[in-house]
Amino acid sequence: MSKQRAKLVVGNWKMHGRLAENAVLLEAVARGAGELPESVRVGVCVPGLYLAQAQALLDGSRVVWGVQDVSAFTQGAYTGEVAAPMAVDFDASLAIVGHSERRAYHRESSELVAVKAQRVLEAGLTPIVCVGETLEERNAGETEQVVGAQLDAVLAKLSPQEAVRIVVAYEPVWAIGSGKSATAQQAQDVHAFLRARLVAKSVAAADVPLLYGGSVKPGNAEELFRQPDIDGGLIGGASLKDQDFLAICKAAGAVSVTQ
Ligand code: PGA
Repeated sequence: MSKQRAKLVVGNWKMHGRLAENAVLLEAVARGAGELPESVRVGVCVPGLYLAQAQALLDGSRVVWGVQDVSAFTQGAYTGEVAAPMAVDFDASLAIVGHSERRAYHRESSELVAVKAQRVLEAGLTPIVCVGETLEERNAGETEQVVGAQLDAVLAKLSPQEAVRIVVAYEPVWAIGSGKSATAQQAQDVHAFLRARLVAKSVAAADVPLLYGGSVKPGNAEELFRQPDIDGGLIGGASLKDQDFLAICKAAGAVSVTQ
């Protein structure tokens, strides 16, 4: 088996967790991450209200933390929104933007996602830009067109220097929370396409981690992470169970090397 580059595994808790259970999970993940090889980087994106808790319990550990969305504005009369600089106050380093649940339930367009990615970069955080097709789009043979357009919208607003600071997560909508992951080959094919798209836009694509997300579990993680263009994972359901999340991180460690 060929060894590959460093991997990044990020948990997306979505709207789960309460103080007491978060503490148990965060402490277990921080402890477990300490035993992972250097070649694996680990993060958790928590509900914004729990950033202070993540900061308190993860500070000094190998685990970085972040939010699952940010406002397209820096500050102002936007009731209910949380701005990227607010996450910086809690030493966050990651912010997911354009998750398919936000695109679907909050009608976020690719243009809005692009503005959010800009706000995240301006604040000094790393945006994890999510792209992905629906089952209908896949069945219609439109996967590349859909994810290509989603990525292009973000790249259109960024300089090549800014673009190398993003992370892209390919999350097929039909695989999220469904228990039905893309096969390693299906994911690799889209990742290779995304990598080529970055290159076509003059982005140093080797520097942009491409994560796969959608029903990643301990049982399928290693095969996914072994693919040459899969640099790690964005993990939903399995990130809520410390043993599963750490097993996924370990699988990343088994197929990666420090760059
Ligand atoms: P899942 O979610 O791992 O529960 O499928 C992934 C995601 O939506 O980020």
